[in-house]
This record gives sequence, structure tokens and C-alpha cells, in this order.
Amino acid sequence: MKKLRIAVVGAGEFGRRHMRVVSRSERAELAGVFDIDPARAAAAAAEWGGTVFPNLEALAGKVDAAIVATPTTAHVATACALINAGLDVLVEKPIAADLESARRLVDAARANGRILQVGHLERFNPAVAAAGRIVRLPLFFEVHRLSPFTPRSLDVDVVLDLMIHDLDIVLSLVGSMPEEIRAAGISVLTPKVDIANVRLAFPGGCIANLTASRVSTERVRKLRIFQPRQYISVDYARQEAFMLEVTQDHSIASNPMPVEKDEPLRLELESFFECVVGRKPPVVGGEDACRALEVALAIAGRIEDHAKVVARTVGALR
Ligand SMILES: NC(=O)c1ccc[n+]([C@@H]2O[C@H](COP(=O)([O-])OP(=O)(O)OC[C@H]3O[C@@H](n4cnc5c(N)ncnc54)[C@H](O)[C@@H]3O)[C@@H](O)[C@H]2O)c1
Repeated sequence: MKKLRIAVVGAGEFGRRHMRVVSRSERAELAGVFDIDPARAAAAAAEWGGTVFPNLEALAGKVDAAIVATPTTAHVATACALINAGLDVLVEKPIAADLESARRLVDAARANGRILQVGHLERFNPAVAAAGRIVRLPLFFEVHRLSPFTPRSLDVDVVLDLMIHDLDIVLSLVGSMPEEIRAAGISVLTPKVDIANVRLAFPGGCIANLTASRVSTERVRKLRIFQPRQYISVDYARQEAFMLEVTQDHSIASNPMPVEKDEPLRLELESFFECVVGRKPPVVGGEDACRALEVALAIAGRIEDHAKVVARTVGALR
């Protein structure tokens, strides 16, 4: 079988990870890389192979599909140009920084009959998949995603940078959009919100509490789900999951859940390649990504409202 020719656009930290995974795939080959910083592209190509494309236009006809790993604010312009040139595209998360641009990208993919996958990586985390197989009626979520500070992805706030992963997972498990959002956030090391705490209320009564920080001293990535008679705990980073269950005799049974560990990025890209070859809709397409973005942007709005209330309270005390 002929290998898919893949290009990576954006040779930063995450683009280089994509390059590593593509270069080791049996289904695809790393055709090359483009970055607005040619030295970065050259260094990445020296490490993982492929040619250095001089510009975006040079990819047309040379590759079958492209991975967009630029900063978020460049996702839509880059991905639209590639789609209009006839390529299938996996664009990193979040799909865009605003909903109108995200919709433009989804429409461009549809109009050109191209596959558009969005890099909501945790969908491919084997521990999340194991939990997803037993979640029937989630009633309560408690989610923590805390990371030490890195000077990357600072073009967006922590909700679009980190919490969007968990928003996508919660939305996919609940299967509906929240009807009420309460949120608070603060900026610590950047002008944007670096720590956020959110409460989502869904029709039917499910509540999701989410906390995300990109200025933490520790690294925590945990998802806890409560549903009737069951508690499911997932450690995203360790790829571990276990379930506590109330038995018929009202005792609590602990059940570790079997998880076949694998690299989520590898699983995500293999799934993308399968969709490209089989012309199948991706596991996380543009519509799902737009839903996660819509909630993330609504959260940003609630955080602004909350900040105004706090400012009034502080002002009144002076
Ligand atoms: N899925 C995940 O778990 C995950 C994790 C980290 C980052 N990301 C996403 O990956 C993307 C990149 O993040 P990063 O940490 O690698 O950032 P980075 O700053 O390390 O790298 C971005 C690269 O893109 C290049 N670039 C900027 N504008 C460009 C353009 N218009 N065309 C081509 N290249 C351009 C920059 O020169 C840089 O090399 C972001 O969207 C981020 O949200 C996803």
C-alpha cells in the first residue's frame, strides 16, 4: 500500500512531536515541514526527515494531507489555505480563537469535500476510552488539569489552551450543551486568564466542575465521573482508570479498569490517516470542535462578568 504523504505546518514543540509520530508510522511518510521561521523548519527536518517547504503554497500536489500545529491565531488562515489547495487537514486544538473563524474553516472543508480533524487528543487517551465505554448517565464531573508554566500558547487563555481538552471530553460524554455556566479566573503570569474554575449545569441535572491552571507547581490531569451507583476515576497522564461501585449488599467494590496504554498522539494520527484513506468522518471533526470552542468562549465571558463583580466589591471596600 502506498504511504500517505504528510506535511507538518509549524515546527514548534508540538509540531515536532507530530513529525516524530508521522516519521514512525507504517501508513504515512513525513514529506516535509513548513514554518514561518525557516531555521526551525530546517532543524526539525534534520531531526525527523522530510523536505523544508519554502511556503504554504509549495505543499499543493506534493502531499496528501497536512497537520497544522501553528499558534491558535494562525489555525484558520493556514488550514483554509491547505483545504482550498485540496488537502485533508488535522488542525491542532482549539480549532480557532473565535467561533466565526471556526465556522469558516468547517464550511471550507465541507465545500471542498476535505477531511477536517481537530487535535482533541484526549479522545484517543486509552484511559478515557475505557471510561467512555461504561459511562451511561453521568451526573457529576470533577476535573483538574494543572500544568507548570511554559511560555507557549500564550496567544490564548488557559480555557482555550488547556481546559478545552476537558470541555471536549465532558461534552462528548454528556451529549448536550450546558444550559448554565458560572466561572471565575485570574491572570497570574500573563495578561490573559491563567487559572480558571468553572461550573457547567446541563439539562437533566448533570453538573461539571472544571479547574485548569497553567501556572501550577505540580502537574495534575484527572477526570472523575459519578453516575448512579458508580464512581469512575481517570488519570489522563498515567493512563489509569478505576471504578468504585455500590453493590447489591450496599458495600463498595473497587474495580481497576483494563487500559491498553498507548501514545494518544499516535492513536490520533493513525485514526486521521485511516479517515483520509477510507474517506470517513473523523472521530473529532469540526462540529465537535466548534461546540467545545463555543463553551470555552462562553466561559471566558462569564469570567469577565465575575471579574467586574469582584472589582466592584474591592472598590466598595476602599
Ligand atoms: N493537542 C495537544 O495536547 C497540544 C499540546 C500542545 C500544543 N498544542 C497546540 O499546538 C499548537 C502549537 O503549539 P506549540 O506549543 O507547538 O507552539 P510553539 O510556539 O512551540 O510552536 C509554534 C510554531 O508555529 C510557527 N508558526 C507561527 N505562525 C506560523 C504560520 N502562520 N505558518 C507556519 N508556522 C507558523 C512558529 O514559528 C513556531 O515554530 C497550538 O495550537 C497548541 O494549542 C496542542
